[in-house]
Amino acid sequence: MEPGTRIGKYVIEARLGEGGNGTVYAARDGVLGRHVAFKVLHPHLVSDAQIAARFRQEAQAMAQLNHPNVVIVHDFVGEANRWAIVMELAVNGETLGSLIKRAGRLDPARAARLCTQVAAGLGHAHARGIVHRDVKPANVLVLRDGGSEVAKITDFGIARVANGERRTQAQLTLGTLWYIAPEQAQNSSVDARADVYSLGATLYEALTGSVPFPYDNAARVLAAHISEMPRPPSTRAPGIPEVLDELVLRCLSKNPDERPRDGDQLAALLGAITQRAAAIPSTQVASAPAIPQPAPVPPAADVAPPGPAAPASRLTREDSQVGMWIGIGGLVLLSSVCLLGSFLCVLTGFLR
Ligand SMILES: Nc1ncnc2c1ncn2[C@@H]1O[C@H](COP(=O)(O)OP(=O)(O)OP(=O)(O)O)[C@@H](O)[C@H]1O
Ligand SMILES: [Mg+2]
Repeated sequence: MEPGTRIGKYVIEARLGEGGNGTVYAARDGVLGRHVAFKVLHPHLVSDAQIAARFRQEAQAMAQLNHPNVVIVHDFVGEANRWAIVMELAVNGETLGSLIKRAGRLDPARAARLCTQVAAGLGHAHARGIVHRDVKPANVLVLRDGGSEVAKITDFGIARVANGERRTQAQLTLGTLWYIAPEQAQNSSVDARADVYSLGATLYEALTGSVPFPYDNAARVLAAHISEMPRPPSTRAPGIPEVLDELVLRCLSKNPDERPRDGDQLAALLGAITQRAAAIPSTQVASAPAIPQPAPVPPAADVAPPGPAAPASRLTREDSQVGMWIGIGGLVLLSSVCLLGSFLCVLTGFLR
């Protein structure tokens, strides 16, 4: 749609982007004067009465949500074949997906902080019986507010309408499939724990720069969600604390009973980890190598065969103290050998 196009009381101003379900524009509410995001759903998603009815139902559910970590839905427009969701416009921000792409991966403290906020937003919906069904980095908007960042989850309920029974899982875009829970991959009924899985996959990508199952074949991705164990994030990127590693893997459990039960419980667990921020390095790691740092070279006498290095985060203070004492001991031993050698040389010379 061209800038200046009018739809009801809204005037299109600029095109912001496009996804699998629609095209998003910046628009102005001609009556209230405020700027909004205007998501026009692809015509094939609203072309039949059943979908339109379902969409209305979802719209009513979405309108109940009011939380700082959820993009507010202001209005819905349904004109002939043109359906649009009118949302809060995220100014001064970008999607978590583009943030991760730009940075390579996020510092663990930052990733955990942003996902705690998303979990809180999801928790608000879960408490009202609403499941998102399409949690992924592209559906998280990160806004800069002075020196801090606020994450907001968007596109609530759209997956329910758009995916419906019309498209089989294999027809969904990879951009959605990389994050879906095993029960969703099997077309079973889902609850809040499916969102927890998808947020776990989102956090996994934020921490490592890679989704848990980074395959480019839909059937293989679906099969992996159902039966393949993901590699621990700490094996893909350095500096991830063990507690965070374990929580991500718990969210990615195949069995929903083994995951945190909803967004609120996940927010509480993640929040506790971010509060122990001292345990998480706060420097940007975007330019750091993807593989854990090599372990310190052991004393020459017992060089071990090459093997995977221990992740930096697993090294405790005691480990580094032991290393320091071994180093000092080695130096003392080396000095003694040198001294003894010099003494023998002098002695040999003297005897000659
Ligand atoms: N509320 C908003 N404010 C500002 N920009 C937005 C907003 N919502 C979406 N966008 C922009 O529009 C782009 C497309 O969003 P959209 O939700 O259509 O894509 P997607 O999430 O990749 O796919 P889909 O949601 O259809 O599965 C986003 O990448 C983002 O840049
Ligand atoms: Mg989206």
